[in-house]
Amino acid sequence: MANTVLVGAQWGDEGKGKIIDVLAPEVDVVVRFQGGNNAGHTVKVGDKKYVLHLLPSGMLHEGKQCVIGNGVVVDPAALAGEINELRERGIEIGDRLLISDRAHIVFPYHGALDACREAACREDKKIGTTKRGIGPAYGDKMSRVGLRMGDLLDPEFPQLLTERMGEVNRVLEAMGAEPLDAAKLITGACEATRVIGPFIGDSIPFLDAAVRDGKSILFEGAQGTMLDIDFGSYPFVTSSNSTAGGACTGTGVPPNKIDRVLGVIKTYTTRVGEGPFPTELTDEVGELLAREGNEFGATTGRPRRCGWFDAVLARYSAMVNGFDVWAMTKLDVLDKLETIKICVAYECDGERYDTMPGNIRTLQRCTPVYEEMPGWQTPTCDCASFEDLPQAAKNYVKRLVELTGVKLGILSVGAQRKSTLRIE
Ligand code: IMP
Repeated sequence: MANTVLVGAQWGDEGKGKIIDVLAPEVDVVVRFQGGNNAGHTVKVGDKKYVLHLLPSGMLHEGKQCVIGNGVVVDPAALAGEINELRERGIEIGDRLLISDRAHIVFPYHGALDACREAACREDKKIGTTKRGIGPAYGDKMSRVGLRMGDLLDPEFPQLLTERMGEVNRVLEAMGAEPLDAAKLITGACEATRVIGPFIGDSIPFLDAAVRDGKSILFEGAQGTMLDIDFGSYPFVTSSNSTAGGACTGTGVPPNKIDRVLGVIKTYTTRVGEGPFPTELTDEVGELLAREGNEFGATTGRPRRCGWFDAVLARYSAMVNGFDVWAMTKLDVLDKLETIKICVAYECDGERYDTMPGNIRTLQRCTPVYEEMPGWQTPTCDCASFEDLPQAAKNYVKRLVELTGVKLGILSVGAQRKSTLRIE
């Protein structure tokens, strides 16, 4: 397979884990390029369910090399826990994992700062973070005060962390939180390093060699375009570049080595956490989508907000990512609906918007302009090809393709690996 960047096109939870799992057999290397353990990629293999937060989904495939790139922020204890869990479940890790020594570390104080900031916010300003410390960890990276995975292997690590905690504890105390004990954090990090230490190394020459040797790489995005720090619904976003550009800065693989960008998009829309969501449904249709789609956050268990497909968002997403092809997911969730709406434009203060406004207050006031299509009210999960789908389902998908200008490559009609229709 060509070197492919896989990105979530909406607010995350598009079903990326499943699509990566389907594509992984066709690639040599799977690399995560941003985010941290705020992500939760759910993969169902037979009757087994795996939820991966930091490990690339390729870990579930024997023989696949996986890389945690420099753009990821890593909570050492969480990663050690995930590695141990996979081992207990019989998944061989061997030398298949490489963790970039340049990836920044998420320490317990980042989580504490995340929680303090959220608690201090006015209700309407709360972001609804996963409280995993992601924002503060990326903040430290940009402020040039962060520690990186390579530092865990440095004999000076205890001193580096102790020094850093001077400022951190002053900030925590100023925010009314308890200071943290440096010695405890050092012990915790050292315990985790016993598990993850052997995997830490320089991922840049490794990926360069993979490219030179003609190996195929799948770049695994986390979260989604509307959570991107630059292109998302700022400030209700995560703290990394979850769009396609992040694949280069988060791995060191240059742009001219990327062949294809694949957008993963649900056939409706969901969002976890706070922030504007023009097509949100707070009625029984929203409840049906949540129920049929089992829409609960894989990381926090929070119920996801649900709404109609938003073609304004999808077009914008295609614009900033350059999607070559869609992987559309969860079509089966719409099976019971009599009619289905698609948002084709927004209206705000008497003006029509065909693209996503940059100003958050404008977006908050936008109302959707809908067109309506008939539903199919027939189960689709056993359809083995696009041709097998009920005509109304085909029409719906074709309309999404038409409205977004991106062709369809994969259509998912159920959680299992087998419920994945390849159109390419
Ligand atoms: P943070 O990434 O924990 O700082 O959270 C910022 C926002 O991104 C919140 O609205 C979260 O709910 C959302 N978010 C972060 N990671 C994910 C994800 O993997 N899926 C969906 N939403 C996410």
